[in-house]
Amino acid sequence: MSARVEASPYPIELQDRVDAYLAGLRFAPEPAAARLEEAMRYSLLAGGKRIRPVLSLATAHALGRSPDDVLPLAGTIEMIHTYSLIHDDLPAMDDDNLRRGKPTCHVAFGEDVAILAGDGLFAEALRLSLTDQAGEPEHVLAAVREVVTAAGVGGMVGGQFLDVAGDRSVDVRHLHELKTGALVAASVGAVLSLEGLRPPATIPYRRFAAELGVVFQIVDDILDVTGDEAELGKPRGTDERHGKATYVSVFGLERARELARYSHGKAREALAQAEGDTALLGQIADYILTRPT
Ligand code: IPE
Ligand code: IPE
Ligand code: MG
Ligand code: MG
Ligand code: MG
Repeated sequence: MSARVEASPYPIELQDRVDAYLAGLRFAPEPAAARLEEAMRYSLLAGGKRIRPVLSLATAHALGRSPDDVLPLAGTIEMIHTYSLIHDDLPAMDDDNLRRGKPTCHVAFGEDVAILAGDGLFAEALRLSLTDQAGEPEHVLAAVREVVTAAGVGGMVGGQFLDVAGDRSVDVRHLHELKTGALVAASVGAVLSLEGLRPPATIPYRRFAAELGVVFQIVDDILDVTGDEAELGKPRGTDERHGKATYVSVFGLERARELARYSHGKAREALAQAEGDTALLGQIADYILTRPT
């Protein structure tokens, strides 16, 4: 969370599996679209922590499944996340020129191609799970519905709208629940749906994931002020430049740190009630609180 905090370990082996899986995906059926595919893969494979798909794999592990069984679903989530980053960086949005340590998609390929690369990733993301995700058809549909709901107006896109609209009467926790929390929560929740798990078994997992999503964005807000740009791989100070409502602008740095720790504690408490081998999920939660990037 700051240079003074030692980052908790991260399950790199799960990140590696996600990276290898994503690297194997191809999108352009005809040579004329090769540059569009290049832009999509440029952003998708630029690095990134893969927190969301790693959460999905760790949830599968907790439920006694092989993490590899949920790779298409996890890939879908990371592709949607990457599309959201490409569009978030556009001049009309946050107007940033660095992402995942490289020039942003619109800087490298032009705005027109970047917009289409985002659109393409979103559609191909859905096609991926609907084509390749194994499971009971009803459960696969429920999982995809959960992801796409989290990406929609009641989730990420709705949150991004509140963010750009800059309406200061909106509660910043609610903003974070939508713009970031929903997709993070769906990274766990969609795997529960894929397994056909029902309440009460799902309740602690869902509480954990919802709170973790908020922690994730609080820490992102803190890093926008305190982070190291080279390490972050994205510009620092974007939120202040745009006068964004963040945990830091609303509560100040120290209180934002306290609230992140408090929410992390609540997430950990919920996870302690969940059945299964939740050690990896706990490790990811600790990393999200202490991460330097
Ligand atoms: C950044 O997400 C955008 C937010 C939703 C806060 P990440 O911090 O997960 O970015 P990558 O995927 O590691 O690049
Ligand atoms: C973006 O939040 C959340 C998204 C849905 C992409 P930010 O605008 O704070 O994300 P960064 O800091 O650019 O990664
Ligand atoms: Mg933004
Ligand atoms: Mg941004
Ligand atoms: Mg940010």
